[in-house]
Amino acid sequence: MNSKFSKIGFVLAVAGSAVGLGNAWKFPTLVGQNGGSAFILLYLFLTLCVGFVVFLAELSIGKLSEKDPVNAYKTLAPEGKKAWALAGFTMLGAILLVSFYSLVIAWIVKYAVFSAVTLPSDIQSSTSYFEELVGNSPWLQLACFTFVFLLVFYVVSKGVKNGIERLNVWMMPSLFILLVLMLFYALSKGGSFQAFEFLLKPDFSKISVASILDALGLAFFSLSLGVGTIITYSASLPDRTNFITSTLSIIFINILIGLMMGLIVFTFIFEFGADPTQQGPGLIFISLATLFAKLGVVGNILAVCFFVSLFFAGITSAISMIEPFAFYLINTFKFSRLKALVYIGVFVYILGILCILSSNQATAFTFFGNKSFFDVLDYLVQNIIMPIGGLCAAIFVGFVVKKEALQILFAPCMNSFFFELWYFFLRFIVPFIIILIAINSIYPLKQLL
Ligand code: PHE
Repeated sequence: MNSKFSKIGFVLAVAGSAVGLGNAWKFPTLVGQNGGSAFILLYLFLTLCVGFVVFLAELSIGKLSEKDPVNAYKTLAPEGKKAWALAGFTMLGAILLVSFYSLVIAWIVKYAVFSAVTLPSDIQSSTSYFEELVGNSPWLQLACFTFVFLLVFYVVSKGVKNGIERLNVWMMPSLFILLVLMLFYALSKGGSFQAFEFLLKPDFSKISVASILDALGLAFFSLSLGVGTIITYSASLPDRTNFITSTLSIIFINILIGLMMGLIVFTFIFEFGADPTQQGPGLIFISLATLFAKLGVVGNILAVCFFVSLFFAGITSAISMIEPFAFYLINTFKFSRLKALVYIGVFVYILGILCILSSNQATAFTFFGNKSFFDVLDYLVQNIIMPIGGLCAAIFVGFVVKKEALQILFAPCMNSFFFELWYFFLRFIVPFIIILIAINSIYPLKQLL
């Protein structure tokens, strides 16, 4: 039997999983590229209509079975339909994810330490500083990656209550305090008006079919859906928790932190006239680092705070990627927690090294033309495994799990009108949207219209 979270521990742990590099890296970048608040509205809409609905489905799979994803599907599926257990293996996505995600946290560690002393003074030196790290410093990357890797595995080795809950209970509030302090500083700057305007005044002309795809991908990624994390954490959900208020608070915290990060990042971008629509690491690792440099010592302090807060956000997410598979090995093969983590650890470490080598100039290898191993894993997890995982959860809970079991589970916190509404969305709207978006990513509908 696994130990259970406390009620607040559950909310903080799931919020810790949800709030991560997605909020700091993907959210501001996508918002910047897709017309600011118009994209935020789209993202909010999809978070409520799809993310929230799938979240509750995954929560019910975890809570009703109190098992890891594979065994949860197996337990809840009726005789003759046990092949549903295969859907639980989408949790492998989280293992692929943690390998390159930890590498980004490793870069953050390097930036957090070095920004205390030095920051690149212009975009050119900042770009070469970053390229030098990713393309030409395999040992440094490996050292930072090993640090992150050991920390994450150490926390998970302590278990749900003594490791995961304990870490989240202090890291999440600390993250929040750091962000509030930085936000106050940002608000004293002129650029914050433009940042507010950019984030709050919608420009729908920038919304394209691709933006919808991006917004759905982000809604899944940032709520940690489709890879077994929510199922696993919900297996340790204490009884008599109000699932709806807990879920809504998690979604609220996730969006709030995304917006706070966005305001901080864009204030500095506008303050110094940088380009808000840059791709990938450009915004955080290249522009922001240069902009902080313009503020002298205050900039160094801000940069350290900023990267430390990213580090906190990243670590609490990374641990939630390992727990599902560890829990599966413990349940199925009766492994000790340590043994399970050693197996997973070897695999993750090798993948991490391959990510480093693939982008390193001297050892570079790419796929499909110019995609690094990192890019391939990112694409595989976000565009393929997560939608499949979400779709499976929706169809399974909507059509295979007994409706009465769900009614009993949700009766204390949802009236029958909302229950039916959720159930309808789960069965018909969510699968339709996910399939439509999947088809679109393979064969863009624009070509048909
Ligand atoms: N939600 C996390 C983020 O925004 C990423 C994540 C995905 C965590 C899937 C766990 C599982 O960074």
